[in-house]
Amino acid sequence: MKILFAASEVYPLIKTGGLADVAGALPFALAGLGHDVRIMLPAYKQVLEAIGNHGAVFPLGDPFGTGAMRLIESAMPGSDMKLLLLDCPQLYDRPGGPYQREDGAEWPDNDTRFAAFSHAAASLADTGNPAGWQPDIIHANDWQSGLIPAYLEFQGNHAVKSVFTIHNLQYQGRFSRDVLDRIRLPQSAFSPEGLEFYGDVCYLKSGIFYADHITTVSRTYANEIQTPEFGYGMEGILQARSERLSGIVNGIDTAIWSPQNDPFITRNYTSRSLGRKAVNKAALQAELGLPELAGAPLFGVVSRLVEQKGIDLVLEVIPDIIAMGAQVAVLGTGDARWEKAVRQLAEQNPAMSATIAYFEDLSHRIIAASDMFLMPSRFEPCGLTQLYALSYGTAPIVRRTGGLADTVLDIAQDKNGTGFVFDAPSAAALRGAVRRAVAHYKDAPAWLKLQRNAMKQDFSWQPPAREYIKLYTSLLK
Ligand code: ADP
Ligand code: GLC
Repeated sequence: MKILFAASEVYPLIKTGGLADVAGALPFALAGLGHDVRIMLPAYKQVLEAIGNHGAVFPLGDPFGTGAMRLIESAMPGSDMKLLLLDCPQLYDRPGGPYQREDGAEWPDNDTRFAAFSHAAASLADTGNPAGWQPDIIHANDWQSGLIPAYLEFQGNHAVKSVFTIHNLQYQGRFSRDVLDRIRLPQSAFSPEGLEFYGDVCYLKSGIFYADHITTVSRTYANEIQTPEFGYGMEGILQARSERLSGIVNGIDTAIWSPQNDPFITRNYTSRSLGRKAVNKAALQAELGLPELAGAPLFGVVSRLVEQKGIDLVLEVIPDIIAMGAQVAVLGTGDARWEKAVRQLAEQNPAMSATIAYFEDLSHRIIAASDMFLMPSRFEPCGLTQLYALSYGTAPIVRRTGGLADTVLDIAQDKNGTGFVFDAPSAAALRGAVRRAVAHYKDAPAWLKLQRNAMKQDFSWQPPAREYIKLYTSLLK
């Protein structure tokens, strides 16, 4: 089977969150099952700089009047996985992030930037496209590639099947109606039976409406998004398409996230040498300027600092955590108000450290060194950091929602439990779970058992990759 995996971020080339981790790993797992897989990504400045030596180039004309576009056929770093980069300097060759300027504002031409990306991906469905390779399946991800199924529809390309994965329903890619002419979609698409959403053109809705199948990244989230509480207004159309909607929980890339081989951490360890985890804790305490107390439970947070992640709840509970004799290490970036609040709280508390930055290496050290990992998300499509925590023997404290509900088992419910789960999105509920965790931590044999339960879980990409292949196969029948 020939599979094109289109995503707006791919680890290690460009990353703002979990989508990049998925796009940098799932295609490899699919290829490992014997399929011809290519990843497609916009040729952002950072990506071109990282890729260095370009490969073959295929011209794609100038369909949007934004200058000539071309497809560069390269490879993922250190591998033979083919990487197709949509090059269009006017759209992608600029400093800043993939979606935002350096000051945090959205790029004003995101409507064109991601329509162009989707248009180019869909153009590969044409026989005789310049790249000389036609996929059977195009797998699109989030709003940035949500127009792919619409372009396939209006090009009349029904042989190539599309899967659209929702990684986060909150980011919808909504633009005003006048964009349609510019991005070469017919006005007839502007309908509730199309990509119209409350008077806007909505790229996410396009993916949901036109794709042959929709997935999201956990079973629980697949159910939740069909309700008003989690649906962000999309619950109606998701219910209408529920037979074409399924949940496949993400895996993790064990080549990058494994305490046994992780080059970023101080001391490697396994479930049989958990004593060495303490070496990582001492090193991190020293690195972050925390008191070097081996017995103080250390709580880690690695997160986008946004409401989704319940960072407000974390801030409310940190004083209690510290009063219990524990420590907190936060690594994150996000909304200015939360960055400021985290920084201020850390300044007042020597037992708390705040790093307001995006540091891949430090994220590994915090997850490895911490005893507990805080993730009280209001919603969580899948969540990868709690999976990383589990595999490092770091007990997740999570809210029972989305992928968190599907991947963390409360120790109070089951002797094979792997963490601490609570229900209400409130500081009180989080505080209760934190108290339980600290009490459990004081019982060393019980804690060791919990760590081993967590580390025994198999979160590799093979099982989900097999589920995706089964899904693609069913679409091609
Ligand atoms: P989301 O995609 O919603 O942000 P996930 O848990 O799926 O949540 O993925 C987040 C990814 O981003 C993880 O790989 C996590 O380690 C990483 N991450 C988040 N914030 C930071 C940060 N400040 N520094 C380094 N890595 C981060
Ligand atoms: C999104 C979600 C997160 C998920 C990630 C990868 O960013 O917020 O829960 O793990 O995508 O699917």
